[in-house]
Amino acid sequence: MAVERTFSIIKPDATERNLTGGVNAVIEKAGLRIIAQKRIQMTRKQAETFYAVHSARPFFGELVDFMISAPVVVQVLEGENAIAKYRDVMGATDPSKAAEGTIRKLFAKSIGENSVHGSDAAETARIEIAQFFSGNEIAG
Ligand code: CMP
Repeated sequence: MAVERTFSIIKPDATERNLTGGVNAVIEKAGLRIIAQKRIQMTRKQAETFYAVHSARPFFGELVDFMISAPVVVQVLEGENAIAKYRDVMGATDPSKAAEGTIRKLFAKSIGENSVHGSDAAETARIEIAQFFSGNEIAG
């Protein structure tokens, strides 16, 4: 299995409830390493660019408004099979369907306010990491 990098966001519903450390504890317990991390206030433009793939969805406006409603923590995670592993650790998008012990089961409020984002594939991970981090901000 290859060592991969994936992109993560700790979303406004989690930062507002002071859950950054709680989420990070689950990430690290799963064996993923946080090799870059910063807390930012996303701009509307950044959120629209990040979620451009969902721009035709009925929830797009709500999603962008939510992502800029409070600070987020953007992260790069590294580990064996990190992309799939982090998706397992996050749990299902809808927290009512998420497995026990996953971040969304533990912390998420709803399908929209679902505490974390993680890349869905290697190419998306590369693009998402590059949107928020320059090379010298990542120390693996
Ligand atoms: P994320 O993994 O960040 O990718 C797209 C996001 O859209 C998803 O998590 C959810 O937060 C959000 N989303 C998906 N479905 C819905 C929905 N039905 N209503 C509101 N937000 C949604």
